[in-house]
Amino acid sequence: MTPPKPDARPDRVSLLRYLRLFRQDILSAQPARLYRAWMAEFRTPFFRSYMVNDPPLVDLVLKERPDDFPKSDRIGEGLRPLLGDSVFLTNGETWKRQRRIIDPAFEGGRLRDTFPAMWAAGQAACDRIGAGEVEVEAEMSHAAADVIFRTLFSIPIEHEIAAQVFAQFRDYQRTQPLLNIAAFLPLPRFLPRGHRRRTKATARSIRDLITRLTEARMAEIAAGTAPDDLATKIMTTPDPATGETFTTAEMVDQVAIFFLAGHETSASALAWTLYLVATHPDWQARLAEEADALDSCDFKVMSKLKLSRDVFREALRLYPPVPMMVRETTCPETFRGRDVKPGAQVVLSPWHLHRHTRIWDNPDGFDPARWQTEGGRDCMRRAYMPFSAGPRVCTGAGFAMVEGPLLLSMLLKRFRFEAVAGKTPVPVAHLTVRSRDGIHLRVTPR
Ligand code: HEM
Repeated sequence: MTPPKPDARPDRVSLLRYLRLFRQDILSAQPARLYRAWMAEFRTPFFRSYMVNDPPLVDLVLKERPDDFPKSDRIGEGLRPLLGDSVFLTNGETWKRQRRIIDPAFEGGRLRDTFPAMWAAGQAACDRIGAGEVEVEAEMSHAAADVIFRTLFSIPIEHEIAAQVFAQFRDYQRTQPLLNIAAFLPLPRFLPRGHRRRTKATARSIRDLITRLTEARMAEIAAGTAPDDLATKIMTTPDPATGETFTTAEMVDQVAIFFLAGHETSASALAWTLYLVATHPDWQARLAEEADALDSCDFKVMSKLKLSRDVFREALRLYPPVPMMVRETTCPETFRGRDVKPGAQVVLSPWHLHRHTRIWDNPDGFDPARWQTEGGRDCMRRAYMPFSAGPRVCTGAGFAMVEGPLLLSMLLKRFRFEAVAGKTPVPVAHLTVRSRDGIHLRVTPR
């Protein structure tokens, strides 16, 4: 069975129709030719956008000259009330300084330290999931939020403040416009795009809660009683260039993005992975067998979860949680022989690159075995970027590649998942790639 893919729009549509389609969903608003094009130009009355699908051009933007292609301001529009000056939105020196402080907390060795917290969140998720028809997107959001709170602040999702942040965040998503939408919408910059009042109020309330957690942690660090978790590590790491640590206000911005980027994405990836194994029972059986290796909470077990890793990687290829990213040109460029002016929007699309018909074998098929072939590995190097690439690569990539395969394995050890007839999920891009009506699976304890 070919995994669900959104219908593409006809090649030519009016600007008005494009806008309308776009507001519904950025994936189905695109024409099918983008799956075989190396580059596509979108002309709007106010600026030009270029979607680049050509691996050397993607490398130029993300890896070779990233400073010349900063993040476009337009993407932050809907998120700034919540994220402030977080590392996800900043550019230039501010961004570099923030990464110097944050990156050490996510290095390989630290992943080993966060493992028991991930394991505990996995156990809690297994205890929470009942039998019968389950909407697994909601369950996975809960589980991934639990992972973030346990690893960052050593508190479970049931903690009073954690539970409130999680609940309010769901509210925020309902009122907040799509991530990236402003980067594609052909509106001039001077038009106020405005954040709805309710969105702003919810963002303020989430930030108040996060501030309470961060201030409490500052006090524990000062008293020498802070637990050794990610928050403590980040808040006590001085910038090697200046010797300064984050202030409480700066840390609040970072906690907001860790929570947002760290739970929405992992939840989306895990929910799609469960759907894929539910519809590929042969793979599910192999993963359940591999999961026998999970006998105690020991980081070494990760080296045994190879199939789980390949399946999770394949789910990230088919349903990259962040389907598109946007950068901006700052000087005149030539892309594939075409002149590109400063201020143009450059769209990098893991969604299209991962399903490119001129790069991948069986691009729309579910084939985790590809990662063990020479061809699959070559494609991974050239055209696989669920976590982006270059210096601005996701800080949580290593973290997510432990969390995803571990939780998947723990769930398959305890439960069998089956698709529900008549409820095939339809992928749409909300904040991340989600299913339009949730992902409903039948769950049976093993
Ligand atoms: C499957 C899970 C995940 C996926 C697919 C994912 C994907 C991405 C992508 C594509 C970006 C780049 C966005 C852009 O440049 O516009 C990004 C950035 C980021 N991610 Fe993740 N992410 C995941 C999990 C996490 C986790 C678990 C954390 C933290 C705990 C995290 C923290 C961040 C941060 C802080 C950034 C901003 C980095 C920067 O701009 O310098 N992510 N992520």
